[in-house]
Amino acid sequence: MSLYDLNVYKINFMTSLANNYKRRRISFKKGKGSFLYSTKGKKYLDFVQGIAVNSLGHANPYLSKALKTQINRVWHISNAFLIPEGEKLAKKITKNTFAEKVIFQNSGAEATEAAIKAARRYFYSIGKKEKNRILCIKNSFHGRTLATISASGSKKNTEGFGPNTPGFDHFDCGDFKKMKKLITKKTAAIMVEPILGEGGIKVIPDWCLRELRKICNKKKILLILDEVQCGIGRTGKFFSFEYAKVKPDIVPIAKGIGGGFPVGAVLMTNRVAKYMSPGSHGSTFGGNPLAMSVGNAVLDQIIKKNFLKNITKLSNYFLKELNKIKNIYPEIIKEIRGKGLLIGIQLHFDQSKFIKSLERNYLLTIKAAENVIRVLPPLNVKKSEIDLALKIIKKVCKEYK
Ligand SMILES: Cc1ncc(COP(=O)(O)O)c(C=O)c1O
Repeated sequence: MSLYDLNVYKINFMTSLANNYKRRRISFKKGKGSFLYSTKGKKYLDFVQGIAVNSLGHANPYLSKALKTQINRVWHISNAFLIPEGEKLAKKITKNTFAEKVIFQNSGAEATEAAIKAARRYFYSIGKKEKNRILCIKNSFHGRTLATISASGSKKNTEGFGPNTPGFDHFDCGDFKKMKKLITKKTAAIMVEPILGEGGIKVIPDWCLRELRKICNKKKILLILDEVQCGIGRTGKFFSFEYAKVKPDIVPIAKGIGGGFPVGAVLMTNRVAKYMSPGSHGSTFGGNPLAMSVGNAVLDQIIKKNFLKNITKLSNYFLKELNKIKNIYPEIIKEIRGKGLLIGIQLHFDQSKFIKSLERNYLLTIKAAENVIRVLPPLNVKKSEIDLALKIIKKVCKEYK
């Protein structure tokens, strides 16, 4: 009997898993592209995609092949040896982005922690060890480790886990005045998500990102842009900050780069990376051959000619059509937010029931802050699948009216 036959969700929640997730009561036995097939035989349009993780959809044949090939070669070695698959992936990343050096990790939180470490290490190494504070947006999201919850600065995530990790200051999103005041002799870096994902798909305007870069230059501090959720093609550019034409110093990535396999990384300029010397940082699993093979396969697809252009084309259509629905139902939808295929539908009221209704109509979406429904199709979504989602969203709006 398989795990799916047992249907653990039916056994009245006699689960041995801890209660730290509020799980929806559906499970899936397979996925294909934009769709998931439930254990009850229902077909769902999956516009969660593991929360912007499965960048190329479920069971992508190119990724499966890469993983299967590597499974039959070697799974894990150690960073004590050369790992050619990792060399190859790092080369692809540096060739296509601002980055000059890469350290691989396993998750977004680890990548963000490594970004914080790299910033502090830089100032320590140039003889300014007092510069170790990181300035972040209040109620942003950088992960769930002790340092990253303190960086995120939301009570929801830090409550009960005190004492908070020291070294972080916070300003409200958009409060430039306060931000400038908080930059002191001790500030090492400003760290922001160019699009606040968990925070409600709040896009930081391009001019703000440019302003942040200017301030960092003026104050001789580093700019960390957390592209864990908005990076790797999600917005129609490889990195979302490319719209603003700014060059950061450090960028943590994860989610989409692994297409469903756990991969994270911190990307750095040479100026910063040169102080991450042997022994300064490490990870047992980070950069292992299985992860690197999948990462290479993901990037092969994303850097293909016209792949990103197609995301922009489809997302322009999607956003335009969503705005039309908003105009028909202004008492339900407050705002359509986002860039590319990182989309937020902000409602005037709590979004939980609406998400449930979408689910009953076989469209999967997920919550973010500020009553926002996150809509995260795979990057290779088809127009017909977007049309199906639009039809379901319209139907649910009509039912709500
Ligand atoms: C912007 C951002 N940074 C960091 C993280 C943490 O990533 P992970 O859950 O892989 O640790 C997330 C996860 O949602 C994120 O959205």
